[in-house]
Amino acid sequence: MTIQLNDEQRMIQTMIREFARKKVSVEAAERDRNKIFPKDILKQMAKLDLMGMMIPPEYGGGGTDTISYVLALSEIAAACASTAVVMSVQNSIVCESLYHFANEEQKERYLVPLARGKVIGAFALTEPDAGSDPVSQKMTAVREGDEYILNGTKRFITSGKNAKTVIVTAKTTPEKKHKGISAFIVTKKNPGLKVGHQEEKMGLRASDTTDLIFENCRVPASDRLGEEGEGFKLAMKGLDCGRIGIAAQSIGVAQAALQACIRYTKQRQQFGQSISKFQGLRWMAAEMATELEAAKQITLSAAAMKDRGEDYTAQASMAKLFASEMVNRVTAKAIQLHGGYGFTTDYPVERYYRDARVFTIYEGTSEIQKIVISNQIFKDRRKP
Ligand code: CAA
Repeated sequence: MTIQLNDEQRMIQTMIREFARKKVSVEAAERDRNKIFPKDILKQMAKLDLMGMMIPPEYGGGGTDTISYVLALSEIAAACASTAVVMSVQNSIVCESLYHFANEEQKERYLVPLARGKVIGAFALTEPDAGSDPVSQKMTAVREGDEYILNGTKRFITSGKNAKTVIVTAKTTPEKKHKGISAFIVTKKNPGLKVGHQEEKMGLRASDTTDLIFENCRVPASDRLGEEGEGFKLAMKGLDCGRIGIAAQSIGVAQAALQACIRYTKQRQQFGQSISKFQGLRWMAAEMATELEAAKQITLSAAAMKDRGEDYTAQASMAKLFASEMVNRVTAKAIQLHGGYGFTTDYPVERYYRDARVFTIYEGTSEIQKIVISNQIFKDRRKP
């Protein structure tokens, strides 16, 4: 079923496309080259309600649906994937987790500024020895009176350096495995939280990815997010929404790559004609466009299921799996279509190729998505 956009969704798409082309794309290559965090762009995005789009206005958000979020995030990703990942993490796993699990006081204190985009947020689940298997995390939170004392190191944390508020998971009852993991809200004002090593990455270079080190970090019990033992469920629920975001980023980057190919192949002359006239190359472009369209539909369909309040876990993983693999194929072909020029920094396709590489890895690898999907389909809970 093709998803039909309503007037509001179309309006958001058009508005954000214009903003992304005029403001976000302008210095994207420069930010990538010099690893410049898109601070000013994010401030402008906050004014457009892009940092907490799906959060109701009473908590500082834009109050839009998930479909609008997918459309907006794709437009930002087409302009600058580094900016898009910051937007994606903030909207999904940070704001959505707070919206679903925080009490009223925590919402007022932490969700409102995050959804308004006044502060950047991060979600810290992964550890040096716990990536695909977050239940094996070693970080501990030991209750002492009205506080928890957190110790451990988190790794590959998107916006780890620039975030002011961090949602972090830790083991409160290690013997209970996933049921012994809890979540906490920690701010950078806390002296027990330090930013560690910043990764040197092949792509998404304008977004920072760091270690976060918790050393006897004292967190008031009132800053525990959700009940004790609810941290794993919270992370999984947040990742469902996060995975729609990665699919949306994949669509945006693939769209930009395809457009770059259309532009380039039309103007590039070889053998006495524009290379866009060669059937072999036209067929490559046709395959790229078809895969991209399929990814759009599956992603919008996952978003629509979320908006209808249905269980969308499998669809989010399908969208993430298909779209992230798709953008890797599309950006590789985009370089091929650009020939030698595609391998240089004179054209944007090499950046798209580098940026897209992590999409099949973060927020759950393609292999993890297949575990999630197969677990869901073998449960056989859904009607045909
Ligand atoms: N929503 C709610 N609850 C869920 C859930 C979901 N989507 N998925 C699982 N759960 C619950 C289950 O119901 C179960 O609860 P009960 O015991 O109460 O029934 C519990 O969680 C355990 O479920 P599983 O047995 O399926 O858990 P598992 O240990 O086998 O792991 C997994 C499942 C899918 C492999 C999971 O570990 C996973 O998703 N791993 C990948 C982690 C990941 O994506 N990491 C990326 C981190 S973020 C990032 O990339 C950085 C960034 O900043 C961008």
